[in-house]
Amino acid sequence: MRKKIVAGNWKMNTTLQEGVKLAEEVDNALKTVEPKCDVIVCVPFTHLASVNAVITNPQKLGLGAENCANHKSGAYTGEVSAPMVASTGAKYVILGHSERRQYYGETSETLREKVALALENGLTPIFCIGEVLEEREANKHFEVVKTQVSEGLFNLSADDFGKVILAYEPVWAIGTGKTATADQAEEIHAFIRSTIAEKYGNEVADNTSILYGGSCKPTNAAELFAKPDVDGGLIGGAALKCADFMGIVTAF
Ligand code: 13P
Repeated sequence: MRKKIVAGNWKMNTTLQEGVKLAEEVDNALKTVEPKCDVIVCVPFTHLASVNAVITNPQKLGLGAENCANHKSGAYTGEVSAPMVASTGAKYVILGHSERRQYYGETSETLREKVALALENGLTPIFCIGEVLEEREANKHFEVVKTQVSEGLFNLSADDFGKVILAYEPVWAIGTGKTATADQAEEIHAFIRSTIAEKYGNEVADNTSILYGGSCKPTNAAELFAKPDVDGGLIGGAALKCADFMGIVTAF
C-alpha cells in the first residue's frame, strides 16, 4: 500500500543556525510520538549536511533538498547536482515546484532530466504539479495537471515511476491562506490517480503517494488527510514552526 507522508518545504527560509535548530526540534519532537506517516524535511542546499548530522533516527525523519540541477557535473556555476545532494545524506528532492516553474522557467523538458538524475542517484523525487488561479477559474485544472504529470513523468518505466512521490499544489493556495477544500483536493487527487492508472495500471496508481500542498495547517490537515486519495501534505509556512509542523504530522 502507498505511504502516508508529511514533508516540510522550508523554501528560502532560515539561516544555517536557525535551520539546524528547527531540525533538532523536529527530531526531538518525533522521539515522543509514533507518527502514522513518514516525516521529511526538505531544506536549503546550504543546510543539508548539517541537518543530516543532527537527525538521530533517519527512519523517523527523512531529509530532502528543494531542487537539483539538470546536469550531473561541470561548468554550471551556482548549480547543485543530484550526486551532490545525495552525498549529504539526503534521500529526497522536490522537483518542479510551482515557484521554480514560475520564477526560474523550469519546463517539463528540464524536469525530465532532473527526475532521471535524481533517480540515478538514489533520490526520491517529490514531483510537484498544480494549476494557477486563472486555469482553475477556466475549469482547465484537470487538463493542466494531466499535462504536467504526463510530460514530466510518463517517459519513466513503471518501476521508476513507482519511486516518485507526487505533490498536488494549486498555485492559488500556496502561501495565500486559501486552502483547497478537502472535496476539491479529493476530486483532483482521484483524477491524478486515474491518469496514472490509464498509463501504468491500477496497481502502480494505487501505490503512488499523492500529497496535497497549499496553506495546509494543523487546523485543516485532518480533514484533508481523511480523504481517500490525499496521502499527506507538502507543507510550506507551517513547516517553519516545530509545533505547527508536528500538529500536521499528528493529524493522521
Ligand atoms: P504553504 O504551505 O506556505 O502554502 O506552501 C505550500 C508549498 O508550496 C509547499 O511546497
